[in-house]
Amino acid sequence: MPSNIQVLLDHRPTAKVSLDNFRVIETPVPTPGPGEVLVRHSFLSLDPYMRGRLDDAKSYAKPQEVGEVMTGGTVGVVEASSNPRFKVGDPVVGAGGWQRYSLSDGKTLRIVDAKAAPIQAYLGSLGMPGVTAWYGLNKIIAPKAGETVLVSAATGAVGSMVGQLARLAGARAVGIAGGREKCAYAVKELGYDACIDHKSASFAAELKAALPNGVDGLFENVGGEPFQQAARRLNAFSRVAICGLIASYEGAPTSLPDMRMFLVKRFKIEGFIVSDHLDLWPQAIGELVSLAAAKKLTWRETIRQGLANAPQALIDLLQGQNFGKMLVRID
Ligand SMILES: NC(=O)c1ccc[n+]([C@@H]2O[C@H](COP(=O)([O-])OP(=O)(O)OC[C@H]3O[C@@H](n4cnc5c(N)ncnc54)[C@H](OP(=O)(O)O)[C@@H]3O)[C@@H](O)[C@H]2O)c1
Repeated sequence: MPSNIQVLLDHRPTAKVSLDNFRVIETPVPTPGPGEVLVRHSFLSLDPYMRGRLDDAKSYAKPQEVGEVMTGGTVGVVEASSNPRFKVGDPVVGAGGWQRYSLSDGKTLRIVDAKAAPIQAYLGSLGMPGVTAWYGLNKIIAPKAGETVLVSAATGAVGSMVGQLARLAGARAVGIAGGREKCAYAVKELGYDACIDHKSASFAAELKAALPNGVDGLFENVGGEPFQQAARRLNAFSRVAICGLIASYEGAPTSLPDMRMFLVKRFKIEGFIVSDHLDLWPQAIGELVSLAAAKKLTWRETIRQGLANAPQALIDLLQGQNFGKMLVRID
């Protein structure tokens, strides 16, 4: 049996995260005790929230402990089980962390339908990021047919689902993404009606032109200058779902538009954290899996090979180098 490979947080970053913040070690594979399950991971999910947890700061979740295995979502296969709910060979999604094997008491482990989609989809479109898109769009923006929904990081794990769900709801979907290749993919593959490159010198003018009827729903994943420009296009009684502010996760300041807009435009702005709504996950995942089975959803993945490359993959994700869901394949 191969050994366990684990990636630990060695010390906290003081500015931007770097490779030396992490340490890779080799340990024996653990043996499940009574009620426990041993999972061999196939994929690790890398997510922007991981950056916040590297800091020892008060937030909605506990900081990552120094010297401990990095936390993170995983999919894999049950290798040994002393838990009657799981049998050897079951494909499962859970929070196994940055390691090849994990032990679980089964409480946060879920068997997935490996026939409906490749199992790594349960870390992306059919998992936490998909539910995030579903929640922010349906519960905060609630688009009506014919309305315009604007989505930042439009081709990412969350954004790619928001755009497609908005189109399925009959809305016009406009994306903001970094670069011509991502924008072309947004329109041709994801079905956005338009996508504007935030790196373009004429970004503000192009965004205005793509939004002749303004914005009724803004799904914000980024913050920064694109958000300031998007806010200027909000219609009266529009809804803004603040899902993420990735442009500021490595220290850049955040800012709000002129407060007068809140009054004049009477818009609603609401931040949300998907883990506050666990009761809705089964419904959301059920709908997403059905849509995927009906071939009504598509997505892209950036897959890096091997746990030793997970720190670089996180750094790249935080710099927008991913194209679709960022994953590490674990050998
Ligand atoms: N509220 C919640 O419960 C919840 C849950 C999951 C995720 N989120 C948030 O949702 C957002 C998207 O997450 P995701 O997992 O789907 O990631 P992602 O969109 O797959 O990847 C991040 C993308 O952000 C874009 N980006 C724009 N400006 C950036 C900047 N200054 N620095 C780095 N990246 C920038 C990049 O795309 P472009 O090249 O297209 O700009 C990058 O590829 C994040 O803000 C995340 O924190 C929130």
